Amino acid sequence: MGPIPLVDLSMQHAVLRPALDRAIADTLDRGDFVLGQALGEFETSFATACGAAHCIGVGTGTDALALGLAAGGVGPGDRVITPANTFIATILGILRTGAQPVLVDCDPQTALMDLAAAERASDPQTKAIVPVHLYGQMVDPEALVALADRHCLMIFEDAAQAHLAQRGGRVAGTVGRAAAFSFYPGKNLGAIGDAGAVLTDDPAIAERVRKFRNYGAPRKYFHEELGTNSRLDTLQAAVLNVKLPYLSQWNQERSTLAAAYDQRLADLADWGIQPIVNRAGAGHVYHLYVVRVLPHCRLDRDRLLAALQQANIFAGIHYPIPCHLQPALASLGYGAGAFPVTEQLAGEILSLPMFPGLTIAQLDYVVDTITQAVRPQSAIA
Ligand SMILES: Cc1ncc(COP(=O)(O)O)c(C=O)c1O
Repeated sequence: MGPIPLVDLSMQHAVLRPALDRAIADTLDRGDFVLGQALGEFETSFATACGAAHCIGVGTGTDALALGLAAGGVGPGDRVITPANTFIATILGILRTGAQPVLVDCDPQTALMDLAAAERASDPQTKAIVPVHLYGQMVDPEALVALADRHCLMIFEDAAQAHLAQRGGRVAGTVGRAAAFSFYPGKNLGAIGDAGAVLTDDPAIAERVRKFRNYGAPRKYFHEELGTNSRLDTLQAAVLNVKLPYLSQWNQERSTLAAAYDQRLADLADWGIQPIVNRAGAGHVYHLYVVRVLPHCRLDRDRLLAALQQANIFAGIHYPIPCHLQPALASLGYGAGAFPVTEQLAGEILSLPMFPGLTIAQLDYVVDTITQAVRPQSAIA
């Protein structure tokens, strides 16, 4: 069996290559490289696909967080609740507004933000909550909205890993006042470089993000706000326009692969391999398929990762060092032990290969390799 990477975009790009080439050539011919036609088209299509009124394309998912939160009125003096168990960009986005990130622990089963902990962390200075729909699974929208209503918090979703995810009849990015998406190449919908977007139904937030991304200018050479330069590149939008029509089908394929993993890995529960629990059912879009390597497993996570690598299987860890223990975030003042579940998961989690185009033969090889590593020989029939 040849190498099995964590993510392989080559098949997707091979199939779409003629359409991608045409889209790029069209943009070159038009020459509208900044805020061009393809960007407008993508913003309209992505907003429609998610069921939102506005999509504003920006340079990265991190910029979408920073500019979207600022457009929603988050700034210095505000506290913003978010999970410790996320990619650092969530917290960097909050910090860029001047607000104080307030971290909370996560649920050990789903790895998603612990909403009871979020509730306890809320106080009168808390302006917003940034739930992260981690690995493609949405945070429970009903419980989230109830919590936000009780404490008058703005919900700003980090949907960077959850394009078209659903839960409880809601679509990721449409639960709160606004949301951030990333189109980093490996995401469920990925560009061929960096790209991001803010999604919102609120026309005032939409207008403000449009200004912020364009030097704070509502029209050329008139600068109303202290903005920045962060436009989703027109060439990247042209690529995203080609890929967007396939997103649902790719998500469906991820879901089918996840069900195949679930079924095959069920036999390994007693041996300490436990998939992260899916409470979103068919709405989970499996940006990542993550298992926990529990303390009673024969191998610890790092040794299992090495055994997979030996077999040419490239698993990942999302994420090996919790945000609150990163040197760059030491000033937030959280030490080791602050978020025990997040810290425990960081030592146990393993992301298995997951991408549209992964074959069942490859998936079987991954599961067989894990089985051989974790099951004592005497237990193998
Ligand atoms: C949960 C989460 N938030 C934010 C981001 C930031 O997105 P970007 O890399 O496009 O800045 C990412 C992806 O990298 C992410 O996974």
